Amino acid sequence: MEIIHLSAECYPVAKVGGLGDVVGALPKYQNKLGHFSKVVMPAYNNPFMWESEFEVVYDAWVNLGRQGFPVRILREKTNKLGFDLYLVHIAGLTDRDKVYGYADDTERFLAYQIAALDWINQWEHRPDVIHCHDHHTGLVPFMTANCERYKSLNHIPTVLTIHNAQYQGQFGWDKLHYLPAFDLWKSGLLEWRNAINPLASAIKNAWRVTTVSPSYLNELSHRANGLESLLASERGKSSGILNGIDNEVWDPKTDVMLEKCYNTRTVDSGKKANKAALCAVFNLDPTKPLFTFIGRLVGEKGADLLPDIFHNALAHSRGNINILVLGSGDPVVEGKLSELNTWFAGNYNAYIGYNEKLSHQIYAGADFLLMPSRVEPCGLNQMYALRYGTIPIVRRVGGLRDTVVDIGDGGFGICHDQTSVWDVGQAMGRAYELYKDKKRMKEILRYTMQLDHSWDRAAQQYIDTYQM
Ligand code: ADP
Ligand code: GLC
Repeated sequence: MEIIHLSAECYPVAKVGGLGDVVGALPKYQNKLGHFSKVVMPAYNNPFMWESEFEVVYDAWVNLGRQGFPVRILREKTNKLGFDLYLVHIAGLTDRDKVYGYADDTERFLAYQIAALDWINQWEHRPDVIHCHDHHTGLVPFMTANCERYKSLNHIPTVLTIHNAQYQGQFGWDKLHYLPAFDLWKSGLLEWRNAINPLASAIKNAWRVTTVSPSYLNELSHRANGLESLLASERGKSSGILNGIDNEVWDPKTDVMLEKCYNTRTVDSGKKANKAALCAVFNLDPTKPLFTFIGRLVGEKGADLLPDIFHNALAHSRGNINILVLGSGDPVVEGKLSELNTWFAGNYNAYIGYNEKLSHQIYAGADFLLMPSRVEPCGLNQMYALRYGTIPIVRRVGGLRDTVVDIGDGGFGICHDQTSVWDVGQAMGRAYELYKDKKRMKEILRYTMQLDHSWDRAAQQYIDTYQM
């Protein structure tokens, strides 16, 4: 099959979170199954400093209402990613330093979607499926189904994957004229709660809808940031497909970002060397258990509670644990997490910012990874942690529920039910007890490192979904 993935992020070109990881891996694994899967994404000002060779395959204009913008689509020539990559450059719109966060994000992502469809519309052949990821590409299913200009794309199946229903990309009807012409009586297919809602529109118009874990699909029927009833009514065409991880990028045996590579046989000495290197840089004590949090500092991840959780844990443990944070997001949380350093220097440190290499080093050097998420559609961090022999401490929610089994139930992780300071504190206490049992720790690490979370299974599940 020929599959086109449309996405705002794709690792290693541009990544803000797990969406980038997924779109940077799934197409590669689909190609390994013998398909022809490619990615068409916006061209930013190279936030990841990713270099390659490109050729221009399309040179045109895109209009938003009466305003025109020059478009160039660049094809990556080396195929080093394992899939064809196309970058949609729209002068004045996509060419920014960050992926998101601009006042004109609506215009930026709408122009990208229209430009991508204009280009596909010109092809002599038709792809077998257009796979849209999150709301930034959510108007594509509506446009291919209803806009006069894309009539010849009508019969191409569209699939929406919801990575996160919290973000929906709503905008006002005053921008309706940005869309290519369609019969106005169809406007209801764009609408949710009196606004144009790209995520809701995609749920209505896509041929199939998937979520990134089965549990998240269930949770969305009672908690979907206002889309509950819509998701319930479209449940018949929806399914939950658990994300995988890219075993080639995330492999402690070959990861060049690590101080020392290791496998299940050498895990003890390997993790010890990585922990020692990390502790030296962050002024921590390598003889103590190292807890970490890596991620976006937002309410969904429970980040607002981290300062209190860490304060309590560090105060109670009297210097017997270490905590290292890597994250960025809410400035208030960032400030509080930095401040803790003054009280608990030697046992605590925080790197506020985004650092891909450091994230690999922490997955390798830490003992426990905290994920007290309120909402977690899938979560990749826990799967990276497992592969690197770091035990996840997770709230039972979404994809965390689907991937982590508590040690009390014969599993390999530590689970808690609520996102609260008390629950996480208790879970850290259980982790501390486990850490003291060296033999058990070793058995668990050997086991988790061998768990198979690769994309092979999910890549096939998506193919089956396209063909349903
Ligand atoms: P989400 O997409 O909701 O942020 P995921 O668990 O799916 O959560 O994926 C997060 C991805 O982003 C992982 O690859 C994680 O390592 C990475 N990440 C998050 N924050 C940072 C950071 N500050 N520095 C480096 N990598 C980060
Ligand atoms: C979203 C979700 C996260 C998921 C990722 C990749 O960012 O918040 O849970 O793992 O998408 O699907």
